[in-house]
Amino acid sequence: MSAPRDEGFVVLRFFVFLTAVLYVSCSPLADPADLLMQCLQDYFPESYPFSGVVYLQNSSSFQSVAQSYARNSRFLSSSILNPSAVIVAKNDAHVKGTVICSKKVSLEIRIRSGGHDYEGLSYVSKVPYVILDLYDLRSISLNLKDKTAWIDTGATTGELYYAIANATKTYAFPAGVCTMLGAGGHFSGGGYGNLMRKYGLSVDNIIDAKIVNVNGEILDRKLMGEDLFWAIRGGGGASFGVILSWKIKLVPVPERVTGFSFSRTLEQGATDLVVKWQQVADTIDDDLFIRLQITAANGTQPGKKTVSANFVALFLGQTPRLLSVMNESFPELGLREKDCIEMSWVESLLFYFGVPKNTSIDFLLQRGLDKKFFFKRKSDFVRESIPKEGLEAVWEKVIEAGSVMMQWNPYGGMMARINESATPFPHRAGIKFKVQYIVNWFAENATKANLDQTDAVYDAMTPYVSKSPREAFLNYRDLDIGINRDGKFCEAEVYGLKYFKGNFDRLVRVKTAVDPENFFKNEQSIPTLSKNY
Ligand SMILES: Cc1cc2nc3c(=O)[nH]c(=O)nc-3n(C[C@H](O)[C@H](O)[C@H](O)COP(=O)(O)OP(=O)(O)OC[C@H]3O[C@@H](n4cnc5c(N)ncnc54)[C@H](O)[C@@H]3O)c2cc1C
Ligand SMILES: *[C@@H]1O[C@H](CO)[C@@H](O)[C@H](O)[C@H]1NC(C)=O
Ligand SMILES: *[C@@H]1O[C@H](CO)[C@@H](O)[C@H](O)[C@H]1NC(C)=O
Ligand SMILES: *[C@@H]1O[C@H](CO)[C@@H](O)[C@H](O)[C@H]1NC(C)=O
Ligand SMILES: *[C@@H]1O[C@H](CO)[C@@H](O)[C@H](O)[C@H]1NC(C)=O
Ligand SMILES: *[C@@H]1O[C@H](CO)[C@@H](O)[C@H](O)[C@H]1NC(C)=O
Ligand SMILES: *[C@@H]1O[C@H](CO)[C@@H](O)[C@H](O)[C@H]1NC(C)=O
Ligand SMILES: *[C@@H]1O[C@H](CO)[C@@H](O)[C@H](O)[C@H]1NC(C)=O
Repeated sequence: MSAPRDEGFVVLRFFVFLTAVLYVSCSPLADPADLLMQCLQDYFPESYPFSGVVYLQNSSSFQSVAQSYARNSRFLSSSILNPSAVIVAKNDAHVKGTVICSKKVSLEIRIRSGGHDYEGLSYVSKVPYVILDLYDLRSISLNLKDKTAWIDTGATTGELYYAIANATKTYAFPAGVCTMLGAGGHFSGGGYGNLMRKYGLSVDNIIDAKIVNVNGEILDRKLMGEDLFWAIRGGGGASFGVILSWKIKLVPVPERVTGFSFSRTLEQGATDLVVKWQQVADTIDDDLFIRLQITAANGTQPGKKTVSANFVALFLGQTPRLLSVMNESFPELGLREKDCIEMSWVESLLFYFGVPKNTSIDFLLQRGLDKKFFFKRKSDFVRESIPKEGLEAVWEKVIEAGSVMMQWNPYGGMMARINESATPFPHRAGIKFKVQYIVNWFAENATKANLDQTDAVYDAMTPYVSKSPREAFLNYRDLDIGINRDGKFCEAEVYGLKYFKGNFDRLVRVKTAVDPENFFKNEQSIPTLSKNY
């Protein structure tokens, strides 16, 4: 009677063995990258074997493709920048397939256009993920008859500026000063530059868009509806879908514009000039944008530090009118004719960006970064002028910190005339200026010191900036102001109110309607209501 038992035992052992074999031979299929590949073959078989489109970890160019648009070296190491795949979309079908298949095989998706996200959210995640890279979807088509253009989201601001200037000397587009920003992240996060006081933000000049939603459908403004079209103009694209392209409205500029840039130290009366700047920068003629950059600098006595205030301006007009505007509103700055540089709008981009004089405008087409570059940024909004004693207290911290620059960007003008709820970007009337805290370094081991210095200057500004909430700018992504874990609403509300104030509620409603399962998510995405705990 023992034989059958033995037989049964053998049979059982055989099944265990067989299961193990099956498990071993099938387990590579459980690798999400393999499942992804299989799924993609169904969605765009014509591109198989996906060379130049899908990069898996075993590809020899995987690291270089993953890193190529990872702009912040803080997130470059392979333990942090560790996607299961990078998909470089060459057409809309690749984008649709990536959305559908990533969802199907439970990989998170990180969408990257220009890769400038300050906290690396477009290329880093803590869960298994795919980078959908759009840098190759970058066509720009201008329609000069109706002064509009369609721009793919992988195009950069520089490429857009070049294309406009190549076709006309008297139109422009209001967007960032940096020429390498991707239209995907930059516009969907607001997009501001030195035309802001005259024409508002990039999002204030967008009239249509194409997006791939969570079901892989392509929707234009009419199909997506006004709620979603509202949300992606300042609420961040990454919470809602993959934006393929924008239709923008060009704005008129004079053939010649004028710039100036000069600095004053404390010894040269910088503090009084900053007091005066705060009174006028947001009320002066809309054609004039005077940015203030504050840094620690060497004083005239050896070893003694001071603060330098750099005034860098763009005026939409020529020297005589600029001199008269300044004479009327800000004579203390002592602007002279010889400080004024006249140029075309496209040349002013290079001037403002600070590249050497006479650099060819081909510079606008450059996309590469040559060296390792670590950085941290934070933001604030100021509603009341900072009194002189306050400035002096802040200067002490700036000197102590040493490497932190503050960039003060004046508001007013068009920014104050657009309703706070017209787009998700809520920082409008009543804002005098926005502060960006900037610190750059070039070696890993300097990270802690630089982050500490940034915090010290940020803390010193606390009494003088907006409160309840302490407002922040989405494009100046800063994970210190809050993150959500697993889409938790109560955590998301913390950063959500800082970035969007009263517009946060509407963003949540749109999100819940278009992506109820919260597929499009990151550490600072818009949550759905269903995760209301
Ligand atoms: C040197 C430098 C200068 C800057 N200057 C300015 C400035 O003058 N004005 C200003 O407003 N900002 C400025 N910024 C900030 C910049 O606007 C943001 O970093 C912006 O998010 C960059 O967009 P991107 O496409 O290059 O970045 P990415 O890192 O590719 O994307 C940023 C975010 O948008 C999402 N995203 C990207 N593309 C899409 C898409 N097609 N669909 C949906 N979601 C998408 C990403 O997932 C990520 O969450 C500057 C940044 C740097 C590094
Ligand atoms: C890389 O991995 C994939 C999936 O695991 C496999 O199909 C492919 O053959 C591998 N390529 C190389 C070059 O090893
Ligand atoms: C510039 O314009 C010319 C003709 O108007 C066109 O052929 C060329 O492609 C344009 N170049 C760019 C980079 O837009
Ligand atoms: C300030 O002075 C130090 C030497 O005292 C020098 O190394 C440094 O380069 C100077 N910085 C600037 C911005 O001139
Ligand atoms: C500046 O303004 C004063 C009066 O406010 C006037 O007398 C002077 O001529 C003006 N100078 C210029 C260059 O406009
Ligand atoms: C820069 O351009 C100006 C004219 O636009 C010219 O006079 C000058 O010589 C140029 N400088 C250099 C260094 O090329
Ligand atoms: C802004 O728009 C909202 C909604 O359309 C409206 O209720 C509100 O009155 C507007 N505010 C101003 C200052 O116009
Ligand atoms: C940091 O690293 C750089 C090289 O990357 C080195 O030159 C420097 O001495 C290091 N500094 C400290 C404080 O360790």
